[in-house]
This record gives sequence, structure tokens and C-alpha cells, in this order.
Amino acid sequence: MPQINIFDTTLRDGEQSPGVNLNQLEKLEIAKQLERFGVDVMEAGFPASSQGDFEGVRNIARTIKNSSVTGLARATKSDIDIAWDALKDAAEPRLHIFLATSPIHMTYKLKKTPEEVLQTAVNMVSYAREKFPQVEWSAEDASRSDKEFLVKIIEKVIDAGATVINLPDTVGYTTPEEYGALFRYVKENVRNIDKVLLSAHCHDDLGMAVANSIAAIENGATQVEGTINGIGERAGNAALEEIAVALNIRHDKYPYTTNLVLNEIKRTSDLVSKLSGMVVPGNKAVVGRNAFAHESGIHQDGVLKNASTYEIITPELVGVNSNNLVLGKHSGRHAFKEKVEHLGYHLSDEKILEAFKAFKLLTDSKKEVTDEDLFTILTDIQTDM
Ligand code: KIV
Ligand code: ZN
Repeated sequence: MPQINIFDTTLRDGEQSPGVNLNQLEKLEIAKQLERFGVDVMEAGFPASSQGDFEGVRNIARTIKNSSVTGLARATKSDIDIAWDALKDAAEPRLHIFLATSPIHMTYKLKKTPEEVLQTAVNMVSYAREKFPQVEWSAEDASRSDKEFLVKIIEKVIDAGATVINLPDTVGYTTPEEYGALFRYVKENVRNIDKVLLSAHCHDDLGMAVANSIAAIENGATQVEGTINGIGERAGNAALEEIAVALNIRHDKYPYTTNLVLNEIKRTSDLVSKLSGMVVPGNKAVVGRNAFAHESGIHQDGVLKNASTYEIITPELVGVNSNNLVLGKHSGRHAFKEKVEHLGYHLSDEKILEAFKAFKLLTDSKKEVTDEDLFTILTDIQTDM
């Protein structure tokens, strides 16, 4: 079964989220957790961007042994040299060079002709390969680039020694159908494309980053890039935990494997959220507070009879200990009794009914009844002879 390489960029693209600024210790803590999560590659930062980033990448490169550590570089000799200094002690150092290929970026940002861009990419990849055993080259804004130009530049960059080709949807503009077609086109037209990893890197500006990443996999991507909790520039990057769980749960449709340890998901998500200060929305897929919470009576009753009625992902799969029956005005007696027992009370049917009535009365004034509220009700009823 084909394996998909997982490239995590929480510490680079994720750290580019407005307001996020991790210190060295925090970066190291996240890197160690990413290693436990089983990512194949972690992008630890952008060494030439600041002294702090340089040191962060170097610390991580010297500590992490079971994931390949990479750093970002512009297509310049000085960025590549600085990145090498930061990464040379890594167990498996690799470099990630990017250069834009879309007409918009080449004209307005780089002010270079396509021929000049092609030559720079080739020169810098071949310079990087003098040091790095693995070099990823990203065609920034690939999804808005001319396909024929992409084919031409990718062939040359592979000839120059690139071992991974990345086609980012830098501005989150593409759709699953278009992005899938781009990968198919590159697969079918680029000479030697099967000798390198082909990578997807999606942003979530239109809310399609995960769907786009999966479309790329279905059309030949062998590596997927993203961040924990989907943090990142603007609307963020593809959420790796969502991709991982989608591949696992819909294995019938997506017959691929990864090296990820899925029951580390919740721990990884909690750590990134705590250290980055980026709160995970309650309704976020896979890791949100409510992802395994059932509020309506019908759903609660179904889940208690058989969890598969309303749960396609078991909480245990992603490292959440038990499901979370939130008691509110729609909750039924079955869920109520289960919760009461969970809290350690063993009451007669009569007392349960009495407690249930008190609970329902409370739900008229409170949307969510907490464990503390229940303790008050149950203690009153238990002691009321
Ligand atoms: O989104 C993007 O294009 C990037 C590149 C640096 C790969 O993050
Ligand atoms: Zn990006």
C-alpha cells in the first residue's frame, strides 16, 4: 500500500500565524511531541529570518533523532549557507528552498522573467545539494502558475538534484478538482517525477485546505504538508490531524498508510494550542472540545446503545479518553442515568427520576449543566430520606 510522507510545518508556517511567537523551549517541546506523533519531516523554522529562528532550528536539529528536520530558505546562497549551519548536526538534515513561479509573483514580487527564475532555481538547488543530502524545492504559488512552465522548471530542478518537489497552493485559491488535476498533469508530464517525492502544501483561505490535500494524494502526491490544528498564515494551513484521521477512517476510499501515531493527536493538539495561544474552536473536526460530545437526547441514547450510531471516530483513536455526554435541555433519561453513575452515585430508579426532574428544571435556566450542578442535585436527593 502506498505510504504518504507527513511533513509538519507547525514551527515554520504555523508560527507565521499572526500573534504567535514561540520561545526556544516551547519550540523544542513541540518538536519532541511531533516526533512522538511520528511525523516524517518537521520544518523547524526559517534560519535566515532571525537569530531566534536560527537557534530554534539548531536546537531542534541537535535533539530530534526520529524525524528528519528541515528549515526554509529563499533561493539565495546566503540563506542556504545559514540553513546549513543550523541543520548540519541533524540526524537527517534537509533543506526547503522556495521560489515563486506564478506570473503574478514573478512580475510584481520577484521582478524576474520566467527564464531568470528557472536559472535561479536550478543554480540554488544544485548549490544546496553540495551540502544537503535531501533538498525540497517549492514552486511558490504553484496553483496559479502556468502548467507548461511548471513542467519545464520541475524537470530542470530534478536534474539539478532536488529530491522533493512541492506544489503549494500558497494563497488557498484552488479547489479539490483543480489541485488534483495539477498533480495528475505533473505526474503525467514531468520526466523522472517518479524518482522524487511529490508534495502538497495547502492553505485554508477558502476552507478547502484538507480537501485539496486529499485530492492531491488521490492524484499522485506522495507527501503532504500541514500544521497541527491548522494554524498558519491568514486562515491557516491544512490541519494534519484531519488529513490523518480522514485517511484512517475512510481507508476504503483512501488506501494509503502513514507513520503517524494517531493516539498522540489530542496531546499534540493540546500542546500546540497551549503554547501558541491559538485556541481550538469547540466545533473543530477531530480535536475540538465538542468533537465527541453529544447533546441531543436521541444522539445520547444512540451512542450509549452503540457508539457507532453517531460516532464515526472513536475518541480513543485520537487519544481522547472517553466520550463526553454534555447534559443540556435535550438530554434524555438514559444519558442522565449513565452520567450519574459515572459521577459515582448509585440511586434507586425512584431517586433517579426525582433527580432527573430537578435536572430538567435547571435546564430551563442553564444551557449546559455542569458536573458541579449535578453534584448539588444528587447530594440533595441522596440525603433526602
Ligand atoms: O505557502 C507557501 O507557498 C509556503 C512556501 C514557503 C512553501 O509556505
Ligand atoms: Zn505555506
